[in-house]
Amino acid sequence: MGDAKKLYIKTYGCQMNVYDSERMAEALGGQGYEPTGTPDDADMILLNTCHIREKAAEKVYSELGRFKGLKAANPDLKIGVAGCVAQAEGEEIMRRQPMVDLVVGPQSYHRLPELEAKAGGGAKALDTDFPQEDKFDHLARRPKASRGPTAFLTVQEGCDKFCAFCVVPYTRGAEASRPAERILEEARDLVERGVREITLLGQNVNAYHGAEGGLAGLIWALEKIDGLERIRFTTSHPNDMDEALIEAHGTCDKLMPYLHLPVQSGSDKMLKAMNRKHTRDQYFALIERLRAARPDLLLSGDFIVGFPGETGADFEDTMDLVRAVGYGQAYSFKYSPRPGTPAAERAQVEPEVATERLYRLQELLGQQQRAAQDAMLGRTVKVLFEKPGRLEGQMGGKSEYLHAVHVHAPDAQRGDIRAVKVTESAANSLGGTLAD
Ligand code: SAH
Ligand code: SF4
Ligand code: F3S
Repeated sequence: MGDAKKLYIKTYGCQMNVYDSERMAEALGGQGYEPTGTPDDADMILLNTCHIREKAAEKVYSELGRFKGLKAANPDLKIGVAGCVAQAEGEEIMRRQPMVDLVVGPQSYHRLPELEAKAGGGAKALDTDFPQEDKFDHLARRPKASRGPTAFLTVQEGCDKFCAFCVVPYTRGAEASRPAERILEEARDLVERGVREITLLGQNVNAYHGAEGGLAGLIWALEKIDGLERIRFTTSHPNDMDEALIEAHGTCDKLMPYLHLPVQSGSDKMLKAMNRKHTRDQYFALIERLRAARPDLLLSGDFIVGFPGETGADFEDTMDLVRAVGYGQAYSFKYSPRPGTPAAERAQVEPEVATERLYRLQELLGQQQRAAQDAMLGRTVKVLFEKPGRLEGQMGGKSEYLHAVHVHAPDAQRGDIRAVKVTESAANSLGGTLAD
């Protein structure tokens, strides 16, 4: 088919954007678009953007600047901005960058085909509503083509928590859960297409309430799908970790022993200022219960340093919390004031002070990550193979604990789960030998 139009999507931000980009590509498939890996020959360019920190948001404009030449060479090229910057800035994007034809917020993707038809030739299309209908219900059903062994599946969107630093409640709207039947149907489809591992996504995934028994109820329903071997979920808020979900970590074989549970700070004063609605001790108590249910649980987290009002002592509380918990993996950020959020108006910490704290925290987290990886040496882990490695006969995949593992396995296929004895711990991955 020589006349298919080409769609180039570039995705920033979180996994929910990755999932949304897949769904947008599918929705535009109905308009005759096929994906392409480069903007150079595209008929439409879509940036799926992130507004979480200033750097992420500003990247959009530098990226758009790079498309000027393409637009000049091909006036029919349509340029769209989707995602959280689209939601936060709306029309302002077209004012700052007039070559943008289309702006669509994260809750309006099902209207993309209409918007695409309307935009171009000087006409602009914009939709940043929070419509009543569920976008996923109105998006095209997913195609049946085979795909890789891992997939994301959004089950919950939006956030009602209003942490004082965060734009998500404004860009993604109020918390909403997809009905369990829809999710199970989509999961079965994915498994038929070759998927073995599903990561359930939500800004507050454990606040999911679309199934009886909440997220734990959904996980148990997914557990019954033959051929689905692994379940993960992200991102969780400590206050929504209920007893059933904690227990599932010990009793549900398909639920992997890895949990991303951000705490942001180890200082009670900062937790309060951030409006996180729990204390440091409550977080410790939760970790203890989780580890009682699943002793080998690998924990991951997010941290913000230099939040307004953070003193040296507050920061030491964070370092102390990190030492006490022991993370297998974590993300840490310098606080970035975001327009419209409460903390943006407060007195800011000196940038050099925040930089120095970030450096120290990242050094500690890096050591812990390394230690968690080294602790796998000599152990046998189960690896889900995702793709061939760089060396002849090598396969790469992830362990239960989400460590990347490479192994010589010439007879293995993508999607196989094999026992691997870990013999090497390199900078960012493990090496091993087949043990089954
Ligand atoms: N829903 C998730 C996180 C969403 S944003 C949760 O509640 O944990 C991902 C991470 O970005 C956050 O956990 C936080 O660490 C970081 N983040 C969010 N807003 C930020 C800001 N204004 N400055 C710096 N980091 C921020
Ligand atoms: Fe943002 Fe807080 Fe909601 Fe997470 S819980 S998305 S950090 S407001
Ligand atoms: Fe970014 Fe929006 Fe995700 S702000 S982190 S893309 S929810």
